[in-house]
This record gives sequence, structure tokens and C-alpha cells, in this order.
Amino acid sequence: MTNLSTPSPPLVLGIESSCDETGVALFDAGTGKVVAEALHSQIARHAPYGGVVPELASRDHITYGLRLVDDVLRTTGFSSGLLKAVAYTQGPGLAGALLVGAQLAASLAYAWGKPLIGVHHMEGHLLSPLLADPAPTFPFVALLVSGGHTQLMRVDGVGRYDMLGDTIDDAAGEAFDKSAKLLGLAYPGGPLLAKLAEGGDPKAFAIPRPLLHSGDLNFSFAGLKTAVANEVRRLTGTQLPARGAVASAQPTLPEDHPRRADLAASVQAAIVDSLVTKSLNALKQTGLKSIVVAGGVGANAHLRSALTAGAATLGATVFYPPIALCTDNGAMIAHVGALRLREAKKDYSINVRPRWALSELRSPLEL
Ligand code: KG4
Ligand code: ZN
Repeated sequence: MTNLSTPSPPLVLGIESSCDETGVALFDAGTGKVVAEALHSQIARHAPYGGVVPELASRDHITYGLRLVDDVLRTTGFSSGLLKAVAYTQGPGLAGALLVGAQLAASLAYAWGKPLIGVHHMEGHLLSPLLADPAPTFPFVALLVSGGHTQLMRVDGVGRYDMLGDTIDDAAGEAFDKSAKLLGLAYPGGPLLAKLAEGGDPKAFAIPRPLLHSGDLNFSFAGLKTAVANEVRRLTGTQLPARGAVASAQPTLPEDHPRRADLAASVQAAIVDSLVTKSLNALKQTGLKSIVVAGGVGANAHLRSALTAGAATLGATVFYPPIALCTDNGAMIAHVGALRLREAKKDYSINVRPRWALSELRSPLEL
């Protein structure tokens, strides 16, 4: 729980509940600053299962949602008179988890007589670098890298997004997480794999970089997981099942295996290489000189340094959200709520959108 400054109107309360983090934040649309925020991560809850269990996620959002709202409001000396709107994550995400946040947001907005606004989770990520200092100015290229998305976009303004490239299979975060699992790491694997990679040789294993020279700006990460699975089988001396035989469980690399850090570093290098190469191509193709990186994988230190170095060779600047805003949080939702305030309505019907393409969004000026 962080209380950053004294609140003044107009304030927007933001609630995030799309996956495994409950986030609540109060955003000051006048100063453009986060007034207070609170976060509850469900990592410990899902870790024993090796991934997010949707039913448990919904239950945790119910347990913590109102508690976090109370934390945020109590420490800021908040009064509902200062509030302009309540924003919540309308999608994409887990249906049950989204419904919990939507219900909480609608109930609060109804009780306070304030307008409600549903926010696109990925737009929250996409625009979170605007909360950094220095912040980028439009237009810019955006690399959106999370557990479910790997997209390159041209961003000309709020709601003005042109897709330049997308993944044709797995997302970058998914590639990190699936590889981490094969390396015997716990959930969520991305940050743990990155930590393990610190002590490894990124050239030790030849991990493929599909589509690297495809000429377009698309990504492919599914083959990478197969390559890692094959290396793990080789290193553990496990045979591939004979044709037609029932496949035995995929082996994972034991914690004390001497090549573990090398394999982690090689996987990370392959993912980062693909992301950086295509991002630089996007800068060349658009002629733009700024790129923002958003989403959980944007917290990866190797990606940050490689992209910053590569962009510098093109005379371009990379903008990152503060690390705490890379992964899911309430501030990015409150922020978009503030940018789209004119769309907020006193309509308290619950209508979540578990699947929702960013390309469906429009500029608030067109609405
Ligand atoms: O944006 P996010 O918090 O949730 C989604 O909207 O998906 O992103 C989560 C993803 C996970 O796949 C996680 O492993 C990855 O971001 N991630 C990282 C790092 N921190 C989070 N991947 C690589 N290195 C990191 N430091
Ligand atoms: Zn996210």
C-alpha cells in the first residue's frame, strides 16, 4: 500500500481483477499522478498448481477487492465528493475474475452515484509508460508483451492503435513461463527464469528464433518450447516415446543440474533477440523515434538493456513504465479511466468481455 500525495479532484478509482492480481488505485486526473495504490498478488495461492486456477482467482478477488479499496480510501482521507468515476477492467481476462471486479466497481459507483467505466486491460498496459517521467509523446511504437499478448503497434493517440505485428502462436510471457516449467521452476516462471539466467551463458544452447528474418513484424514462440523440451530430454537422458506409444510425462531439469543456468540464459536470449529485432524493424519501418514497452515481460532486465542499446543505434528512445506498473495493477486502469472520462456512464449493468481485441477500441474524440 503506497500513499503518494494528498488527493484533490478530479479523482478516478481504478480496480483491476482480470487474472491473478487484485489491484486498486486512486488517480488524480488533474495532476496526472497516482495518489494511492494497493495490490494483492495471488502467486502463493496458485503456485502449488503450476498456473492460475480461475476459480481460486475469483475467490481471492472477492476476498481482497473491497479490502484494498478500503485501504486506499482510508489512507487518502478520501471523500466520494472528489471522485469523478470508478474504472474497472472490463476485459480481456478470466470471465469469473473480471465479473468480481466489475461487480465491486458497479456497486461502489452506484452507492456513490458516480459514473462507471469499463477499461481494456491491454490499453491499461499500453498507456502505462505515460505515467513515467519522462513520458513519451504520440506517435510512438509500442511493444506489448504480457502473458497472453505479444504485439507491435503504432500508437497515434488514445484509442488510435494500428497493429504492426502479432504472435502467430504463443505469447512471449507464455514462452518464458512454459520454458521455466521445463527447467523445473515454479509459477510464474518468467521472473524466476530471468533470475536463473543471470549466471548462465546465453550462447550455450542453440535455441531457434523463428520468423526472425521473415520480413514482417510477426512473432512465433511455440517452437522454442519444443526446443527447450528436447534439450531437457537430452540433458536428463529421457527418450522420446516411440511412435504410437503413450507419451510419458515431460521431464523437468533437476534443481542441481549444472546446465540449468546456461539453458535459462539461452532461452531468454532467444526470446529477447526476437523481441528486439522486430521492435527495431518496427522503428525502421515507421520512421518513428520512440518506442514504449508495456506488459509483464517489460520487467525483464535483459530485454530492457538490449532494446535500449539497439534503439540508440537508430537514434530512438525507449520508454518503460516504472517496474511496478509493468505487471498487473490498479493504477493503469484508473489512468485509462481518467483518459476516457467522457465515456463514463451512470449505467451499472455488468458486461465483462473476456475476449476483446485492442483493435476494437476507438479514440475518445470519435465517440
Ligand atoms: O502483464 P502481466 O502481469 O499479465 C498479463 O496480462 O498477462 O504479464 C505476466 C507475464 C508472465 O508470463 C510473467 O512470467 C511475465 O509477464 N514476466 C516476466 C518477468 N516478469 C513478469 N517475464 C520475463 N522476465 C521478467 N522479469
Ligand atoms: Zn496484464
